[in-house]
Amino acid sequence: MGPGPSDVHPRVLRAMSTPLVGHLDPSFVEIMDEVQELLRYTFRTDNEWTIPVSGTGSASMEAAIGNLVEPGETVLVPTNGYFGGRMESMAERAGGEVVHVDAPWGEPLDPADVEAAFAEYQPDVFGFVHAETSTGVRQPDVPELTSIAHEHDAYVIADCVTSLGGVELRVDEWDIDAAYSGPQKCLSCPPGASPLTLNDRAMDKVLSREEPARSWYLDLSLLEGYWGDERAYHHTAPITNVYALREALRLVAEEGIERRWARHRRVAAALKDSLSAMGLALNPDEAYWLPSLNAMEVPAGVDDAAVCEYLLDRYDLEIATGLGDLEGEIFRIGCMGHSARPANVTLLVPALAEALEAQGADIDPDAGLSVLRDRLGEV
Ligand SMILES: Cc1ncc(COP(=O)(O)O)c(C=O)c1O
Repeated sequence: MGPGPSDVHPRVLRAMSTPLVGHLDPSFVEIMDEVQELLRYTFRTDNEWTIPVSGTGSASMEAAIGNLVEPGETVLVPTNGYFGGRMESMAERAGGEVVHVDAPWGEPLDPADVEAAFAEYQPDVFGFVHAETSTGVRQPDVPELTSIAHEHDAYVIADCVTSLGGVELRVDEWDIDAAYSGPQKCLSCPPGASPLTLNDRAMDKVLSREEPARSWYLDLSLLEGYWGDERAYHHTAPITNVYALREALRLVAEEGIERRWARHRRVAAALKDSLSAMGLALNPDEAYWLPSLNAMEVPAGVDDAAVCEYLLDRYDLEIATGLGDLEGEIFRIGCMGHSARPANVTLLVPALAEALEAQGADIDPDAGLSVLRDRLGEV
């Protein structure tokens, strides 16, 4: 129940023990096709250019940024969380000139500020974080942000690491040019093969770059040879991770993406509302609540690290502390994929109450447990 990785579904673990075939074996090529189709379903896109990048979420992130940003281009990034900062570092390494659109940690970007930043800097590329794992904030108004960028002929990159497969995300309808993610959050799959999708407009830019992308490994014009029609060797794909991702995505399709979003909302709302009733406030405004990552304020006088340690020692349960501007201020409680289950929440809420009381926190466990019972049945 931390910020990821989440619990891996037993079917995914089983898929990982499938014997290996070669990365160009006809049966593996069929699996590649299936993974691409299932990724399109999960991203809600028809983008031909939809692939799992070999590596963790940072690899799909760097593939998006390192291919779309050309040296000397202006890149607009947010300052409202840890992963906006990582976008900045990657854009700089790609040779971009970074400019900022500001918002405090714990708040989303305001479209008016994005509009003002476009008027001031005329960026070529705009990156934003749809689900900021460091703050538990969901960026609303995505279509508004993408339309501002497109009015200025810019390209939009969305970080969807903590939203894909758990929180409403519609790449085509929201007009996102490039979106990347990781498998270890709401897809409940081990890290190692990370989803990426680019529309034709973005891919045209990538394929007409004046100089090649700085990373050979993540150069999408070369990866096209492997994931496109040709199916020619570029690197040896992490076969086992691709098996795992296929199984995780099949689980998404079997459940239905919209029902999966609804499950995350229902189970995480039970968690958030019972903790609120107990006396812990949700840190972001309700309007920006991110069901997959619940940022609850640390009650006065409580040592947040000691609470996490207590839960790990006594209950084998992981939650995380805050970081950056929110260090010491929040608990980060994940509710992702296979971990977004009533059984996990009914274990966590009383355990957290016990850990907080051990710290002398002034909370009302019974009020929390009563909300939990109303929402999820017997505790
Ligand atoms: C929002 C966000 N972006 C990017 C990443 C980087 O992914 P990884 O750690 O898998 O490289 C993470 C990881 O937690 C994340 O939460």
